[in-house]
Amino acid sequence: MHAKLRSTLRKAATALIVAVGLSGCEFTRTPQSFLAPEGVVARMQSELFMLSVWLMGGILIVVTALLVYALWRFRDRQGRELPFQNPGNHRFELVWTIVPTVLVILLAVPSVRTAYTLATPPPEDETLVVDVTGYQFWWKFEYPQLGIVTANELHVPANRPVQFTLRSADVIHSFWFPRLAGKMDVNPGKVTTVWWTADREGVYLGQCAEYCGTSHANMRLRATAHSESEFEAWVQSMKAAQERTPPESTISAMASTGPIRAQAQPGGAVSPDEELIDRGREIFASSACAACHTLADAGTSGDVGPNLNNFGARETLAAGIYENTPENLKRWITRTQEMKPGVIMPALPFSEEDLEALTTYLLSLK
Ligand code: CUA
Repeated sequence: MHAKLRSTLRKAATALIVAVGLSGCEFTRTPQSFLAPEGVVARMQSELFMLSVWLMGGILIVVTALLVYALWRFRDRQGRELPFQNPGNHRFELVWTIVPTVLVILLAVPSVRTAYTLATPPPEDETLVVDVTGYQFWWKFEYPQLGIVTANELHVPANRPVQFTLRSADVIHSFWFPRLAGKMDVNPGKVTTVWWTADREGVYLGQCAEYCGTSHANMRLRATAHSESEFEAWVQSMKAAQERTPPESTISAMASTGPIRAQAQPGGAVSPDEELIDRGREIFASSACAACHTLADAGTSGDVGPNLNNFGARETLAAGIYENTPENLKRWITRTQEMKPGVIMPALPFSEEDLEALTTYLLSLK
């Protein structure tokens, strides 16, 4: 029995060491690891974190060693007298007052310095400002300096500070790009701010970090950092997308109350794809979609769900949880609850034909 227990314990210990070792390998490679900072803010925060890890690790080792030594050295043995009971020792008391004080100072000085640095917004003339609003379960991004609005997929220039003002439309969320900066709560009725800079061009992943309802875990974030010229091109495409206006046929379809009919063909001038897109636009503009989503190209201005002006250019659906493909989009529209439990958007039972037109249209919006 004894041998069996010992072998079980040995196996468990081995499994634990292997698991810790393997997870250690993964720590810095995962896209949301705060241990692999990729911006000046994340770097300052991670240096602070590592400083306390090393200090605390040292204390843990020293205290554990002293404890083990005392347990071993003064263990009970037959015939042994009670060891000397020390009622007080000035030298020891001085040591265990001064050493912790020094340790606290070692932690406090860099902490306070970093806190002040991070609380100071970066220089205004070189900073991009983004107003963020958290909703159950998606993110709105407004760029007040540029006059553009988008959702879930943030676009920023690399190597330029971005200042965020954070608001919530409903409950408490938390804005978090682990490789770029620490978490910041997004509160209803109170504006918070955070800023960061992304070191390199590329995609950074983030996550709502405060439980906000059933699909809290499905409330993801995505930031693409571009070169200055690529960013400028993105801004221009966004401006063009939001300045579009719907064609006459859509406006008249919105005014009619009956079900939408395919429009009369103007004699071969329109390709089948364009026909499908026109039909999709009309369906969008005259169905429930219009009440909740802003889409300049279809003339709608709802403010409940995400702005869809550049929908076809987005890589993901439903706040970053699905790839933006025709198949996923069709499933999304008709089976929202299955795709993202607790989502506010209702499932819309379109016919197969209408769905084809609607998805073709939405994905054409670039
Ligand atoms: Cu929003 Cu969790």
